[in-house]
Formats: sequence, C-alpha cells, structure tokens
Amino acid sequence: MDKKTYYITTPIYYPSGNPHIGHCYTTVACDTIARFKRLEGFDVMFLTGTDEHGMKIEQKAKETGVTPKEYVDPIVANFKRLWETVDISYDRYIRTTDDYHVKSVQNIFKKLYDKGHIYKGEYTGKYCTPCESFWTESQLDENGCCPDCHRPVTDAHEEAYFLKVSAYADKIEKFLTETDYLTPKSRVNEMVNNFIKPGLEDLCVSRTSFTWGIPVDFDPKHVVYVWVDALSNYISALGYENDAFDDFDKYWPADMHMTAKEIVRFHSIVWIIMLMMLDIPLPKRLYGHGWINFNGQKMAKSVGNVIDPFVLVERYGSDAVRYQILRDMPYGSDSNFSNEIMINRINSDLANDLGNLVSRTVAMADKYFGATLPTEREAEPIDEELISMARALRDTVAPLIDEAQLSKALEEIFKVVTRANKYIDETAPWILGKDEAKKARLASVLYNLLETIRICSGLLAPFMPKTMPKIWEQIGSTESLAAFDTLGEFGKLPADVTVHKGEVLFPRIDVDKEIDELNALLTPAKTIREDEDLDKANIITIDKFAEVKLRSGEITACEKVAKSKKLLKLTVDDGRNGRQIVSGIASWYKPEDLVGKKIVFVANLQPAKLCGEISEGMILACDAGEDDVRVLFLDADVPNGSTIR
Ligand code: MSP
Repeated sequence: MDKKTYYITTPIYYPSGNPHIGHCYTTVACDTIARFKRLEGFDVMFLTGTDEHGMKIEQKAKETGVTPKEYVDPIVANFKRLWETVDISYDRYIRTTDDYHVKSVQNIFKKLYDKGHIYKGEYTGKYCTPCESFWTESQLDENGCCPDCHRPVTDAHEEAYFLKVSAYADKIEKFLTETDYLTPKSRVNEMVNNFIKPGLEDLCVSRTSFTWGIPVDFDPKHVVYVWVDALSNYISALGYENDAFDDFDKYWPADMHMTAKEIVRFHSIVWIIMLMMLDIPLPKRLYGHGWINFNGQKMAKSVGNVIDPFVLVERYGSDAVRYQILRDMPYGSDSNFSNEIMINRINSDLANDLGNLVSRTVAMADKYFGATLPTEREAEPIDEELISMARALRDTVAPLIDEAQLSKALEEIFKVVTRANKYIDETAPWILGKDEAKKARLASVLYNLLETIRICSGLLAPFMPKTMPKIWEQIGSTESLAAFDTLGEFGKLPADVTVHKGEVLFPRIDVDKEIDELNALLTPAKTIREDEDLDKANIITIDKFAEVKLRSGEITACEKVAKSKKLLKLTVDDGRNGRQIVSGIASWYKPEDLVGKKIVFVANLQPAKLCGEISEGMILACDAGEDDVRVLFLDADVPNGSTIR
C-alpha cells in the first residue's frame, strides 16, 4: 500500500536582506514537524523557498546598480546556506523566479480571468512598499500609516486588474469559523472582526508602475501582484499548471501551512478565496505563530535588532539553537530572545537535565558492569511511575506535533527527563553498586534509565537531529530502536546492552564569560583619532554596528579590472563558496603582492557592479599618510570565513 502523504510549507522568504534568527522560527518548526512525520512513516513533502519579485526588490537592485536577479541571487544563496547550517531537511526549494512557477502563475491568472473572477478597473488607494500591501483608507493605522509595519504609505492610481474577493465574504467567514483550518482559534476572530466584517473589498492584483514581476501574459504591461504570485508557490511547486513536477495529486491539499501572525491574513483569506475560485480542494491547517522579539519589538532588519543565526550556531551548535527557539516560543504568542535566555536554556535543559542524565547513566553502567549490563533483574514498585511515563510519552507527543505545539511537546519530553534524574536520586545506584547482593537491582535501575533515554532521545531526534544519534551510540541503541513503533514500547534495548562512554553532549557554558564575549562581538572597536569629536557626534548603537559582518578571507587570485586604473578584482576564499571583491587599491598594490594574503572584508555588503565587475563585499584598508593606503592583513594561520569581532 502507498504510504500516507504529508505536505508542509513555510512561507517563502523575501530575499531583501540577510536572514536572522526571527526567520528561523517557521523553518525550524516546519522542519521538526516534517522530520516527526517521516518518523511516523509518512511520505513527506516539505517545501520552502524565496519570494523574489516586487517593487521593493526592484528599488533595492536599482540603488545597488545591479539587475533584480543579480541582487537576489547571493541573498538566496545565503538563505540556503542558513538552512543547511540549521539542518533544514526541505524536500523542495522554490524560487518565484523559476520558469515553471512563472508559467503556473500566468496560467492561474488567466484561469481566474476566464472564469470571471478577475476584471479590469482603476486602482486608487494606498500602498505600503516594504510590505508589498495595498490598503484602503479605513485600514490604515491612527497615523495614516501601514497597519502592519506602521511606515508611511503612498498614493497609488493606475489601471489594474481586480480579484472579486468581495463576492466570497460569506463563504470565507463560514470556512474560517466552521473548520479547523486556522489555528490558534483566536486568530479566527481577528480575521473575521478586523477584515471580513468591515467588508471585504476587491483586491488589486496587478501593477503597471514597475516591471519586476510576472507579466500578465494577455496584457504584458501589467505584472501580477506579488502576493498572488507568492501564494501560488504552494501549488506550482507540486506541478499545478506546469510540466516541471507531477506531485499535485499526490500531495495536495496541504496538511500544514505555517506562517507568522502578520501574514495570516493572506493565507487565511486571499489564498483560500483564490483556491475556492479555482475549484481546488482547500488546505487542512494554517498555524499562525507569534514573533521572536528582541528588546520588546519584532526582530526585523528594519528595526535594526536582528541576531545573526550563523554566529549562534558557530558558538553553540545547531541543535542548541533549534531547541531554544522552539522551546521558548509559547503556542500562538510571541517569544523574547536574548543571549541570556539562550545560554540559560542550554545550561539548564540540555547540559544539566538531558546531558547529565545520559552521562551519569552511561558512566554508572561502565563503572559497575564494565559497560555491559548483566541480564538478571530485580524490579521494585518505585520503577513503575518512570516506566509508565516513558511508555506513554510517544502518544502524548505525537498529537502535539500535529497541532504544531512544539514547545509543549518539548515540555512533555523534558518532564520525563526530569523524572528520570529524580529516579537516579531515589534509587541511589552508587549505594547499590557497593553491594554485591544488589547487582540485579542495580541492573534494573540502569536498564530503566537507558530505556527512558532511548524513548526520549528518539522523540527528540526531529528537534535535535545532530545530537540524538550520538546519544544512541552512547546508550548502546541504534536508529532502528528509535523507529516510531519502538518508541511506544518499553524494553526494546537488549537485556545485555553495552554502553559506550562518549563526548560531553552539551558543554556547560560559563554565563558571565560568554555574555561578555557575545557583547564584545557587538561592540565597535575604539577608534583613536584626532577627529574623535567627529566620531562622537556620529555615535551608532551596538545593534547598528552588529549589522556589519566582518570576516577573514584569503586572496586566492587577483587581476586588474580592464576598464579601470584604480580597481583590482580579487577572488577571495571566504570559508564558504568563495566570492569576488573589487577594490580601489590598484595604485598601491600589484596583483602579485596580494595573492595568498589574508584580509578582512565586509561580508554582508550589498553586491554592486563596478566597471562591469560584480563586487560582493569590501576589503578593509586604512589611510597611511598623504595618498597612501594599507590593506589590513591578518596572520597567515587565521582560518578563512571567521567572524571578526
Ligand atoms: N514573502 C512573504 C511570505 C510569502 S508566503 C506566500 C514574507 N516574507 S518574509 O521574509 O518577510 O517573512 C517570512 C516569514 O518569516 C514570515 O512568516 C514572517 O512572519 C517570519 N518572520 C520574520 N521575522 C520574524 C520574527 N522576528 N519572528 C518570527 N517570525 C518572523 O512575509
């Protein structure tokens, strides 16, 4: 029989800046669910991607002097690198600039037009460029600004196509209130009271004032509204209205769309109405989660309070970062991020509770039995509570995963971890170990602990995929003993199981020292200059400085830029995929002087074209007197791609 399928999607991300920790929540949460469903035996399709069209991208590319595609390509590469860094197991990655998606969107638009759901009219209203959203006067906030991001909106008048969403007000209200599609339920009231009850107005779905979008093929001066383009990704990626894939019948309707709360409106109203108009079955679930806040505000580039996930993963490992962001986001509400919260989570839950449970148990099996448990057993009533908690855990956790209640699922697993640590205190194996007559009892205690760890780590594997196989190795388990069926049973490890002492799973972090180091990462170096007063007048915040990512790199090749006297073209090993940087230092350095040298470069500078050559970053140099410039070179043994702080 064919396996049951499960289709889960993240929103597709705007490649308008580098990704931050706030972006990671949805994707890490979806990844955990996707991994859990695979564990349960489902044939999973996990989709993510990038939303690459729109006026904002067109403007940014223009400012940088590159085409929109040239502008987004390196940012998309960076998103993909992040997903690799945090172990995202997506099955498909869609870019809205992919040809097959373009074709699907054109066909969808034409279908909607042919069915009479789209008509031509004139748009007059307000437009928020950063959010790519149209608003009516009545929807603006108290200052007449965008109700989502509270930035100024602009007047817009132009010939446009409209989607007749007004005709679907009753149907959409019925759908949202009578099905379990939108969760948490509180968001249903928000949608009905804020958007449907005040009156759904027809949606402007094309623009003529910019060109970076998918052209309406029967009227090419129009480009398709970016949200219609973006939402269609969920079906175009399966092959709806294109020949690139043939998975639509297999995976659609989606089992889970996940987004943060501010875009629930598009996924619960516009998307569902589009699907109703197209006579396509409706998706089963939308979970609208809260935001990761930093200093009380949504973490966002425009606010300037973003935390770089690469830095955190480099220091703590991807599993610890995944764990913290999932554990600290309460269902449906916002969470707060701070370096302290992150470190305390790692220390208390991962190092103290889980790490200690594993290392104590394995160390005792090693010490008292030379690593292999004897098979004689002696049970006691005190074992029952732990055993029954461990046995019931799988069936407590699985429904929570279906509801995207990931923090709660972790809480349930850690209740059992805590119970197991308490069981060690209650049974005092170190006392049993001293008494030859208690060996069978000691073997029972250690076996119960190893089994509890097997079940907990099996259920934790979708959350922390790197570390759990290390635990299996230490407790003498295997991947097959972490299969879904075996996680519902107690007693699957062989009676004479052999443990293997191993590395510390989550080293304890010295909070004070670490916080100082992390803060130093964000502290600008002191400048000692004659014009210090000028510097003082131009003070910037730590957050602002933290936006500049400086890294070490090695110049592996160098040549003059043909059309310029001043520019050198450097090929730089940046510890990743490599990059090209164009630098105005030809008056002071010959290409052969630079090859093999280690330099500091700005890693997150917007790419620019200089004399026809793309430059992805800037190397650091300093003034060294009248008309002299010196490049900042690093020691030869500094690794490439390291963070400069
Ligand atoms: N391109 C649209 C989505 C189109 S889906 C058809 C978009 N992109 S985004 O890059 O701005 O956001 C992608 C996702 O990241 C959204 O769910 C967004 O809410 C989420 N987050 C961005 N910052 C966030 C936090 N600080 N906290 C949690 N999630 C946040 O919207």
